[in-house]
Amino acid sequence: MRVLVTGGAGYIGSHICLELLEAGHDVTVVDNLANGKREALRRVEALAQRPLELFTADLNHKDDLSAAFSGPRIDAVIHCAGLKAVAESVADPLRYYANNVAGTVTLCEVMRQHGVSRLVFSSSCTVYGDAATVPITEELPPAPVNPYGRTKRMIEQLLTDLQASDPAWDLTLLRYFNPAGAHASGSIGEDPAGVPDNLFAFIAQVAVGRRPELRVFGNDYPTPDGTGVRDYIHVVDLASAHVSALEPAGGPAPRVYNLGTGRGYSVLEVVEAFERASGRKIPYVITERRPGDIARAYADPSRAHAELGWRARRDLHEMCRDAWRWQSQNPDGYPDS
Ligand code: UD1
Repeated sequence: MRVLVTGGAGYIGSHICLELLEAGHDVTVVDNLANGKREALRRVEALAQRPLELFTADLNHKDDLSAAFSGPRIDAVIHCAGLKAVAESVADPLRYYANNVAGTVTLCEVMRQHGVSRLVFSSSCTVYGDAATVPITEELPPAPVNPYGRTKRMIEQLLTDLQASDPAWDLTLLRYFNPAGAHASGSIGEDPAGVPDNLFAFIAQVAVGRRPELRVFGNDYPTPDGTGVRDYIHVVDLASAHVSALEPAGGPAPRVYNLGTGRGYSVLEVVEAFERASGRKIPYVITERRPGDIARAYADPSRAHAELGWRARRDLHEMCRDAWRWQSQNPDGYPDS
């Protein structure tokens, strides 16, 4: 298959491109390079020893986007492009709705024009909001609690409406839990702009000496050690789920799958695991809770296993080891390109 990956130059997208190339698929990337890096794709090509095609284009620029569909026939789209910072989405919701929601509308229009009907969408466990029960199954009613989460949920709804309007569409929604780690080579990984919002990226920068200490957002949650519990999933496992999702699977479309390990770890457990994997001390201070944070979230990933034959294989130690390999080999992230 030739697979078009939107956001393919980003953290998750670049790992997906590599898995696709290694599975024998051809890859076309569409990325506006707002957060993605050209260098990440060069390294993907080097690892896979195969080229891919990059179109530097914004999803909201229909003509540029169309150009990416005008070359060799595209068989499927994996749609990862999107903004994902919660606080930014609260401060500037229009940017989030324009980029994430309107961008997806344009993408689907262009797909229809070019007769491409298969789409795998990068959704998030953020659509569940503060779920009352864990583990979280796909049956739980979505209730996102911030604009970012609402854009993800709206896209899921628009894709569900699209599927209902025309059964020729073949749509899959993947709800990611907390992606972490890097490719085992250490040559591609997470390179956030500015101060990292996410735990793993922050810890990795503390370990490598770019930041003095981690702030642990609250230790008074109703969890075993009082710190937040999340389902961290190795980014290579996450990427491989997309390759599985391209194969025809059971259940009527749109198919919805949680992607997690099914196991939760607290912030302090992650700190400890990272110290062990890196041999570095991670100094931390306990601070106030971060507004909007929830106590715990972890997946019931059994549907993805039953229907896609996929499950996460890498554990927390491998996430820490690989995140550390990436960060220690690339202390300042990718070079400017
Ligand atoms: C966050 C977003 C979520 C988004 C996901 C994308 C919030 C509230 N949620 O999820 O919508 O889909 O990122 O990857 O922003 N922590 C610290 N110190 C830090 C950073 C994090 O203690 O410097 C703690 C958090 O309180 C939380 C855990 O680490 O308990 C994980 O945080 P994070 O990596 O930001 O992920 P989420 O909050 O689960």
